[in-house]
Amino acid sequence: MFDAVTKVTMEKIVSLCKRRGFIFPSSEIYGGLESCWDYGPLGVELKRNVKDAWWRAVVQQREDVVGIDASIMMHPQAWVASGHVEGFSDPMVDCKSCRMRWRATDLSGDKCPSCGGELTEPRMFNLMFKTFMGPLEDAASVVYLRPETAQGIFVNFDNIISTTRKKLPLGIAQMGKSFRNEITTGNFIFRTREFEQMEVEFFVKPGTDEEHFDYWVNERFNWFVNLGIKQSNLRRRQHRKNELAHYAKSCTDIEYLFPMGWSEIEGVANRADFDLTQHAKHSGKNLTYFDEESGERYIPYVIEPSSGVDRTVLSVIIDAYEEETVRGETRTVLHIKPELAPIKVAVLPLSRNEKLVPLARQMYGEVRRHFMTQYDDAQSIGRRYRRQDEIGTPYCVTIDFQSLEDEQVTIRERDSMTQVRVPIKELIITLQTKLPR
Ligand code: GAP
Repeated sequence: MFDAVTKVTMEKIVSLCKRRGFIFPSSEIYGGLESCWDYGPLGVELKRNVKDAWWRAVVQQREDVVGIDASIMMHPQAWVASGHVEGFSDPMVDCKSCRMRWRATDLSGDKCPSCGGELTEPRMFNLMFKTFMGPLEDAASVVYLRPETAQGIFVNFDNIISTTRKKLPLGIAQMGKSFRNEITTGNFIFRTREFEQMEVEFFVKPGTDEEHFDYWVNERFNWFVNLGIKQSNLRRRQHRKNELAHYAKSCTDIEYLFPMGWSEIEGVANRADFDLTQHAKHSGKNLTYFDEESGERYIPYVIEPSSGVDRTVLSVIIDAYEEETVRGETRTVLHIKPELAPIKVAVLPLSRNEKLVPLARQMYGEVRRHFMTQYDDAQSIGRRYRRQDEIGTPYCVTIDFQSLEDEQVTIRERDSMTQVRVPIKELIITLQTKLPR
């Protein structure tokens, strides 16, 4: 019935996101703020659904992971211990002609990619955002906005072990905002200075770390497949020794095939005992773990699956986006997995005819109690179906004049565009079967 047509580009995704209220440039009425984005009514639903899917999979459905929500600002010594004050830097170069600024590691030659001008020598630039706590702006009141959520987990390791009385292997999960003063940003929400991460620090007995590492790489890869992302657009990429972060023994990225090429959406790292050793040294606290089974005391090793919420949202939208030709017309559709769709059901009266409206409003009230629902009565029914297709709504419920007589409504399915009539009495149960939680 239909063929997929045009290739997806980032411009099309940015345009759809803006047009339909997924994502807007931040402070747009002031001309925007570089690399900052605001999630609109549909974007915020999609993002919540992604985060809920992650939380369910890594915390609620497992007995060996617990969650926390630590503060964004932490004791400044934590960032000295973690190595971020000393080493969380990128080499930056400037073009002497056009003044463009680049991350040296992104360049292949020694001339400016923009104008061919001469570049300065690289200077190291620390990526942490600094601010001051309290009224005095002096060195003693400097605090950082966290550049990763991970450290909030490490500094709570002892609290979690002593309050949950769980045994290793044990994971601690956290999601939340992180901040990096990136030298270069871009590709929409792919690289920004304020973003959200979803991280697990999985503490294991030294010597068992490699098997846990392999397990988490596969587990996380499959999670993206379960989100509905095509497996052919996902791959694993092992880091070379010279790319490894200062704390990592090994690292494998999960990459997605974005319009700009294969790029990281998640990194799974073996952080060995780096972080707990450092925090023990700098805080003076004993962060060893007593293993009752073996009678040994040791500093656990850590496997860290760390992904970006925004990059996951972006890959979900890109992967679901399709322009199809249907009976000579183009329809844009997001084939997004129903679990992630911002709107699950749209209730559409055939027209604004006063005879139809009471039943349609009644249906809307009922369906809304169970699912995220939208009511739309503007323009022709065909246009309204297209609008819902474009935002990924899996089901539309249409109320027509026949409904007033036979007490049935039509359910129209997004992907196949098939329509079935169901008795109003059975509408909720039918939708519940189609939209499992
Ligand atoms: N705790 C380890 C860590 O933070 P990372 O590879 O630097 O590792 C993990 O970041 C994930 O966070 C990345 O895979 C990416 O999805 C996301 N992320 C990192 N920097 C980002 C940025 N500037 N903008 C958007 N997402 C970012």
